[in-house]
Amino acid sequence: MFKEGLLKGKRILVTGGGTGLGKEMSRYFLKYGAEVLICGRRESVLEETAKELMEENGGKVKCYGLDIRGAQDVDETIEEIFLEGPLDGLVNNAAGNFISRTQDLSHRGFDAIAGIVFHGTFYVTHSVGKRWIELGRGGSIVSILATWVWTGSAFTVPSAMSKSGIHAMTKSLATEWGHTGIRLNAIAPGPFPTEGAWARLSPNQDPNDASDQGVYSQNPMGRVGKMEELGNLATFLMSDGCDYLTGQTIALDGGEYLTGGTFYKALSSLKDEDWDAIKSTIKATNEKDKAKRTA
Ligand code: HXC
Repeated sequence: MFKEGLLKGKRILVTGGGTGLGKEMSRYFLKYGAEVLICGRRESVLEETAKELMEENGGKVKCYGLDIRGAQDVDETIEEIFLEGPLDGLVNNAAGNFISRTQDLSHRGFDAIAGIVFHGTFYVTHSVGKRWIELGRGGSIVSILATWVWTGSAFTVPSAMSKSGIHAMTKSLATEWGHTGIRLNAIAPGPFPTEGAWARLSPNQDPNDASDQGVYSQNPMGRVGKMEELGNLATFLMSDGCDYLTGQTIALDGGEYLTGGTFYKALSSLKDEDWDAIKSTIKATNEKDKAKRTA
């Protein structure tokens, strides 16, 4: 879709770039010639992804072990990155989420999600943005949100609240930093099957089974999203072709959110025992991930 080398010479950092949507967007940036930097909590996962993407596309992918919940760790990593050379793009992709009835959430459960999505995303944006301003150069920031920034979302309230905050950050900084050449936009993807999200948002569904679209079968296009569709939009937002575009959150969901309340409709009839089973499945996923982090 784009000319070869569209992103040549650009250095782009993708938070949570080791898996899921972050990995897929990284694949496209690399394919179009960017140097890609990925950070995440599990270094072994990052290394595996870097190897896979470089074998597929050539080019350079660098890894940084980082939990974006720590403001100081974030600033030290961004400092290290800028000492090697300034960034041109940042994708705020790292996120945490799980479905739960809100009355069942503990404070720590809320904090786990707000810490990553709300606080962590700000820490990275602030750390990169202030360096761009000091250096007198612009850059493109793309945050990965969800359509519930417009609708709210039952059963994922900490994520809906946190992502709405980043939606507000996108609009606010687009105006505050517009004169510096820094652009901020966001993508609100609808259902794009990834193992991490599916295990926590649709734990009874198989992300690899295209026929098992469950709650997503109500999508006006009758399907989930294709990674190339996300990759192309992210690549466009990282390129130089439309610098006047800033402060926008773009839904990429086949029109799904306009139909209203998919999660609510699907989950509001669940019983106590269903929620217990969902919680156990999500916890098992979290434990498996944690074991990989400490391995
Ligand atoms: C209730 C739960 C829970 C559940 C965890 N908790 N899962 N509470 N129901 N299903 C509670 C725990 O009991 C604990 O509180 C607290 O949350 C912290 O849990 P930890 O596992 O210790 O936290 P941590 O290891 O930091 O894990 C963070 C996480 C986890 C967010 C909870 O899910 C994670 O690491 N996720 C990363 C990947 C991910 O979530 N991907 C999906 C993103 S999808 P107590 O009080 O018991 O100590 C997305 C948008 C998708 O963001 C949009 C689609 C349309």
